[in-house]
Amino acid sequence: MTSSTSASRLAVVTGGIGGIGTEICMRLADAGRRVIAVDLATRGERIEAFREQVAAYGSAIRFEPCDVSDFKACGGLIDHVERNIGAVDILVNAAGITRDTSLRKMDPQHWHDLMRVNLDGVFNTCRHVIEGMTSRHFGRIVNLSSVNGQTGQFGQTNYSAAKAGVHGFSMALAREAARKGVTVNTVSPGYCDTPMVAAVPQEIRQQIIADIPVGRLGMPADIARAVVFLTADDASYITGANLPVNGGYFMSF
Ligand SMILES: NC(=O)c1ccc[n+]([C@@H]2O[C@H](COP(=O)([O-])OP(=O)(O)OC[C@H]3O[C@@H](n4cnc5c(N)ncnc54)[C@H](O)[C@@H]3O)[C@@H](O)[C@H]2O)c1
Repeated sequence: MTSSTSASRLAVVTGGIGGIGTEICMRLADAGRRVIAVDLATRGERIEAFREQVAAYGSAIRFEPCDVSDFKACGGLIDHVERNIGAVDILVNAAGITRDTSLRKMDPQHWHDLMRVNLDGVFNTCRHVIEGMTSRHFGRIVNLSSVNGQTGQFGQTNYSAAKAGVHGFSMALAREAARKGVTVNTVSPGYCDTPMVAAVPQEIRQQIIADIPVGRLGMPADIARAVVFLTADDASYITGANLPVNGGYFMSF
């Protein structure tokens, strides 16, 4: 299958009905992309709300169920999309979970559940799109990491390890795919105003906001803007990069 024209390039967004994923889907569609939001079939109510939220986009944004922790299911998804809708030009991995607890209380289930979604999920989707992207000489992959992968966070040995791993993975794949027109980058959000952060106890949330130089939580739109930038057709010279979007919460060079 040949790559679509730039006006109608096809994007797959995992975690596509989540707080950040939904915004990414809409902003990519605004940029002229056709978008497939991928998320768990079990999230019935949220899927319905998502469909209403994106109704104005018509067939430019569709939903496809898939558990990204399931390698075979990811293969089936990409095969289904490429046979019935079109070649995948853009992949955004935004599916993610937290299983916070200090290491002394963390059981193997907390560790493995998180790794299977946040790190294996990135492998499972990238593995199934990379062949097609490199053979068509065009691809844009953006993997969502986190500021907590850069700094480490109390209670998040699992999450911090997975998110640091996401960037290592992105750099390695960026090298493998660079000559074939495929870029692979990471976006590392700081703390955003989403259900994931709403679950953090109020007093800890206030302390976090006090420590953000910009003085507010990030908005999903702040993250989506970075994803649209990195997935643009002419963003061909940025690869293996991590773009932090954190309001100055963590600065590095
Ligand atoms: N919200 C933040 O402050 C923040 C900060 C840094 C990084 N991030 C990262 O950004 C990404 C999006 O976060 P969010 O705030 O939108 O979270 P969210 O919980 O709103 O969305 C995550 C989505 O992933 C989906 N998901 C979970 N397991 C899945 C699976 N096995 N298969 C398919 N989909 C699955 C969920 O159903 C959900 O819709 C995540 O990777 C997260 O780790 C978020």
